[in-house]
Amino acid sequence: MSYQPIGVFDSGYGGLTVLKSLVGKLPQYDYIYLGDNARTPYGTRSFDTVYQYTLECVQHLFRKGCQLVILACNTASAKALRNIQQLDLPHIAPERRVLGVIRPTTEVIGHYTKTGHVGILATRGTVTSESYLVEIEKFFPELTVFQEACPMWVPLVENGEYQSAGADYFVQQHIDHLMRQSPDIDTLLLACTHYPLLLPKIRKVVPESITILSQGDIVATSLTDYLRRHPDMDAQCSKGGTLQFYTTDSPTEFGRQAGVFWGEPVEAEWLKL
Ligand code: DGL
Repeated sequence: MSYQPIGVFDSGYGGLTVLKSLVGKLPQYDYIYLGDNARTPYGTRSFDTVYQYTLECVQHLFRKGCQLVILACNTASAKALRNIQQLDLPHIAPERRVLGVIRPTTEVIGHYTKTGHVGILATRGTVTSESYLVEIEKFFPELTVFQEACPMWVPLVENGEYQSAGADYFVQQHIDHLMRQSPDIDTLLLACTHYPLLLPKIRKVVPESITILSQGDIVATSLTDYLRRHPDMDAQCSKGGTLQFYTTDSPTEFGRQAGVFWGEPVEAEWLKL
């Protein structure tokens, strides 16, 4: 079979938190990671801009042989996924698939809460799209959902400042804002794939009784299930166990930053937009 990797896309480094879980659970597949570091963050950009950027990157991944692309970015999933699935794919690649991270998360979030009050931490774009409110209502209408936009968190991660004292300040600020909305919140969702890098700091300021959910394992479980239910697509994904990294910005910088997170050196290639 020819090289047909699973594409994993994010605006920057955040999607690596999802890729890590995918490789952990489904190591047999080939993967290509693409970070649009040249144009990150997406969370503060308009609907049209996020849609245009995401579509461009998906097309690049298609040209590299991907039959299946995961948008490992909530902002892109909120603002671009539906258009890509409904308007673009039928024309540009009817047999290929693009999946997001919001649906798999909202399908299971209700299983974690006892109080029925859940908190969503996300980018401004994801929060204002109201995608989480709409999707959770479909699966768990009994839940009460509280949202908090954390516009400083992605820049902290993208600039390698997620372990700094400055990060403590912004983590505390947004957790306080969210928890003030309801003292009964017992489940917090990190609804941005960058945020797990801030998890040690978030955990420190959130009471132990509160469950904090990251999306990596949820998405990996969901993809496993998807590939089992879609054997035709599974057959289209090559299984050589390889991993390639692309960035739209400096590959040296990507390798340095991503390597710290990945736990081993990462060699990236430049993808020219
Ligand atoms: N990782 C992206 C997300 O999940 C970050 C978006 C951004 O670039 O602001 O939303």
